[in-house]
Amino acid sequence: MSGFHNRWRAILPALSAASLFAGPAQAGDKALGQYLSSECVTCHQLSGQQQAGIPAIIGIPEARFAEALNEYRSKQRANPVMQNIAGKFSNDEIAALAAYFASLKTGPRAPAPAPTPRGRQ
Ligand code: HEC
Repeated sequence: MSGFHNRWRAILPALSAASLFAGPAQAGDKALGQYLSSECVTCHQLSGQQQAGIPAIIGIPEARFAEALNEYRSKQRANPVMQNIAGKFSNDEIAALAAYFASLKTGPRAPAPAPTPRGRQ
């Protein structure tokens, strides 16, 4: 019956390592953030251009980004659209979005904005 015990001796360290990663979220999960961001980028332009009064949100430092979403969620910031959106997210999801958007950079290497068509089509 020692085989049984040996197997547990092999498995237990793996379990405790896994629980370390399941601990309180420090840095957000960028991949999750990217997944969740599809909703955001219908309004917020990934090019970093402000559009129709909607601010650019790429490259905002992670902590400030998370704070902004928390403030919408707790209705300290008064914008009904963003309050609604932020209200759906858990702390981990907000951290994930913050990590993802903070990792996107503006600047000279950002793609040029598409020219806005004016006048007739
Ligand atoms: C329907 C359009 C729309 C969608 C979709 C949307 N936003 Fe917004 N967002 C806005 C507007 C408008 C503002 C400016 C609100 C204000 O004046 O407080 C804003 C503001 C913000 C700000 C604050 C920016 C700053 O400079 O303080 C953050 C952060 C933000 N949005 C993140 C997100 C994220 C993350 C998502 C997706 C989960 C998202 N938004 C989806 C319209 C939108």
